[in-house]
Amino acid sequence: MLDADNVDSFDFSNCDIALDLIPVVEGLTKERKRLPFWHGWDDKGSEIFEIIATTSPTYTLWKRELALLEMKSNEIASETTPPTILVELGSGASSKTRLIIEAMLKNHGSLTFVPVDLAKDMITKVGKELEQSYPGLKVEPFGGIFMDGIRNLSNREENKLLLFLGSSFSNVCMYEQVNMMKEIRAQLTAKDRFLMGLDMDNDRASLLEAYNDQWDFDGDMDKTKFEYVYDFVEKPADGEVPSYVVGYLKSLVEHSVNFRKLGLTVYFQAGEKIYFTDGPNHSSKWNPHQIHRLAERSGFAVENYWTNEASDYCLVCFVPV
Ligand SMILES: C[S@@+](CC[C@H](N)C(=O)[O-])C[C@H]1O[C@@H](n2cnc3c(N)ncnc32)[C@H](O)[C@@H]1O
Repeated sequence: MLDADNVDSFDFSNCDIALDLIPVVEGLTKERKRLPFWHGWDDKGSEIFEIIATTSPTYTLWKRELALLEMKSNEIASETTPPTILVELGSGASSKTRLIIEAMLKNHGSLTFVPVDLAKDMITKVGKELEQSYPGLKVEPFGGIFMDGIRNLSNREENKLLLFLGSSFSNVCMYEQVNMMKEIRAQLTAKDRFLMGLDMDNDRASLLEAYNDQWDFDGDMDKTKFEYVYDFVEKPADGEVPSYVVGYLKSLVEHSVNFRKLGLTVYFQAGEKIYFTDGPNHSSKWNPHQIHRLAERSGFAVENYWTNEASDYCLVCFVPV
């Protein structure tokens, strides 16, 4: 049995834990206990996300973005001139993307779509369905991480419209957001555009409600001994970094949990937390000033900016400068 106290010196090569669970063991045995955010992002995780996002009465982000895309897809499609490759980072089921694909096919006649996602089987299946739905569409799925997907297109001559929907960028650790933007900027030319969907910071009560009751406890954990908490951390409205929501499980009493699948026993003090992310933010929540600062700090300008009627969701079109 692996014990939390000796994990730093433990030789994982001699143990029979599935490879993809090792980061979970490492996270649970750090002083600041945490679960890696990407854990669960595979074909199954993306399928579950699509069901929760489209049906949850409290997680309204997906529907707010859909409503905005219904209004703005034609304008978005005219941001680039053909021939254009449409690239989507973290595309998942690409259900909202259908609106942009339809608008681009109407404007451009034909289109190549490159969905980029860790959920390779899912995007391959979705790609075939999209090709059946839309004559004139060619889908080239890329199963892998975001930046590999972008780098893979660096030799292509066509203009690119890069999509990062679902406020997924807000899940990137706040200390890495500008670097990620700079890396993306380095792969784009002045004719390319980068469209991002971002959740705004204005309705705190609904924001916290959105993250309620989504935790599925491991069978080894006693639900009554943990509290499931999401806090809103407010940052200065005129500052560089956005506010954010942070989520964690708080142990209500001193006790140990034996995680059988991990072969690990973890001791919890009363009040000790397991964070759901490596970094501070589970999800950043933005205002227009912070979005402009993000652009300026990473070599972009904001070319277009659309919000919904409630001003609680926005689509931003970044142009490389
Ligand atoms: C929150 S879902 C968003 C899905 C869809 N874009 C939407 O707006 O409904 C995030 C998607 O990003 C994928 N993903 C997460 N991290 C990734 C990474 N580092 N590289 C590639 N795909 C990733 C997941 O597999 C998942 O399909």
